[in-house]
Amino acid sequence: MLDHILELVGAFVGVNIGTDVSDMPSASKLVDILKANQITHVRLYDANAQILQALSNTGIEVIVGVINEEVLRIGESPSAAAAWVIKNVIAYVPATNITAIAFGSEILSTIPNAALVLVSGMNHLHKALVAANLHSRIKVSTPQSMDIIPKTFPPSIATFDSSWNSTMYQLLQFLKNTNSFYMLNAYPYYGYTKADGLFPIEYALFKPLPSVKRIVDPNTLFRYDCMLDAMVDATYYSIEAIHFNDIPIVVTETGWPWLGGGNEPDATVENAETYNNNLHLRVLNGSGPPSHPSIPINTYIYELFNEDKRNGPISEKNWGIFYPNASAVYPLSLSASDGVTGISASVFCVAKAGASNDKLEDGLNWACGQGLTNCAAIQPGKPCYLPNNLISHASFAYNDYYQKAHGAGGTCDFNGTATTTTQDPRIHNQIPEILK
Ligand SMILES: *[C@@H]1O[C@H](CO)[C@@H](O)[C@H](O)[C@H]1NC(C)=O
Ligand SMILES: *[C@@H]1O[C@H](CO)[C@@H](O)[C@H](O)[C@H]1NC(C)=O
Ligand SMILES: *[C@@H]1O[C@H](CO)[C@@H](O)[C@H](O)[C@H]1NC(C)=O
Ligand SMILES: *[C@@H]1O[C@H](CO)[C@@H](O)[C@H](O)[C@H]1NC(C)=O
Ligand SMILES: *[C@@H]1O[C@H](CO)[C@@H](O)[C@H](O)[C@H]1NC(C)=O
Repeated sequence: MLDHILELVGAFVGVNIGTDVSDMPSASKLVDILKANQITHVRLYDANAQILQALSNTGIEVIVGVINEEVLRIGESPSAAAAWVIKNVIAYVPATNITAIAFGSEILSTIPNAALVLVSGMNHLHKALVAANLHSRIKVSTPQSMDIIPKTFPPSIATFDSSWNSTMYQLLQFLKNTNSFYMLNAYPYYGYTKADGLFPIEYALFKPLPSVKRIVDPNTLFRYDCMLDAMVDATYYSIEAIHFNDIPIVVTETGWPWLGGGNEPDATVENAETYNNNLHLRVLNGSGPPSHPSIPINTYIYELFNEDKRNGPISEKNWGIFYPNASAVYPLSLSASDGVTGISASVFCVAKAGASNDKLEDGLNWACGQGLTNCAAIQPGKPCYLPNNLISHASFAYNDYYQKAHGAGGTCDFNGTATTTTQDPRIHNQIPEILK
């Protein structure tokens, strides 16, 4: 009955999970938070065994990471790479849906001496995946910072720092040969704060710009409505400048800090809430940046929890979107259904215990059909499929409909099979302990 709805699911917004957190919740509580918020894609910086185990049978797609400290060893040794893949990937698939390995993090800008082994390490990992016949399902890539592109505006003339010519050539050749993708960490927060007033903050926050302040690339005449689009395009043009194409970009990190020191006035809850909610709308509109409109800007928000144990300025520790107790820091929708601010809702609409199966079936079909509820999350393998019973699926669909429609007069009735409650149906059965 729901086949046609699945086709709507394409672009996604996932979340990074850093673990430099002093009161880190258990892996199973962490996964409950992901499920309750319909988060379908995550990236880990390492290959944390408890988290990978807890993610099994959730359908959530996972990028695992080789930490920078391991890059040299794996770059120099095919057998070290094979052992890493066996221990951290093969041990968990297919129950845990690992779809990519990120080899290090921003290696060229943080540990440039490892550049010589960057692509050989990726090759070693890829070969280990080939040996296990996992290479078509699991891609190898390496997240790069925007810092390797010295001048990002106008995007059309951006190029990688020329000292990386041969590394980037080999890297792109590898991504192209293995049908992988370019991992980009792109932070309009830094693009804006470091440009000293060159760009209006609206441009960084995806807000409309007055026509006199519109930002246009003078060579292509493309108009850039937001800085993230310009950063992604600067990267596409840099890739093209060394004659590669058809390598999609995925934004492996972006976000906005919600607290900063005295010299970081733009790190506010209001700006972080604006950035991440507008990011969600921008990505889910499904279009790419002006140079590649048909490739969605799939994105991972940085990050799930504040990493209070990290060094650096106050803002460095305050990018989290949830507290470890599962409360949202600010209202933020991450579900694939547009515009639902489910996290901030306090009244929910659920199926009534004792309603007849026939009527619940009708109500579910209506909500997922005419009611325009996005029912992808209750399909097999998706985050809200379990518990797999009619009352849970109907509750999910009724609530999704109600959250979207009640502002416009939609009711919680469904022919008498629905009722309102203050208990979030996306959490009950799953994480009662978090509600305590
Ligand atoms: C794992 O992710 C892939 C890639 O999106 C998807 O095609 C597949 O259905 C997922 N598998 C499960 C078991 O959810
Ligand atoms: C890198 O490539 C660019 C364009 O192809 C070229 O102009 C530049 O001289 C190269 N730099 C180095 C260090 O080889
Ligand atoms: C999606 O967002 C981009 C950037 O703001 C905009 O140019 C484009 O028209 C939007 N597309 C749709 C279908 O709304
Ligand atoms: C969760 O933790 C935050 C920060 O410590 C606190 O403000 C909030 O009230 C807590 N929420 C619940 C439900 O305990
Ligand atoms: C309510 O019941 C009527 C008659 O059985 C049916 O036509 C209609 O589709 C139902 N509506 C919903 C929302 O289930």
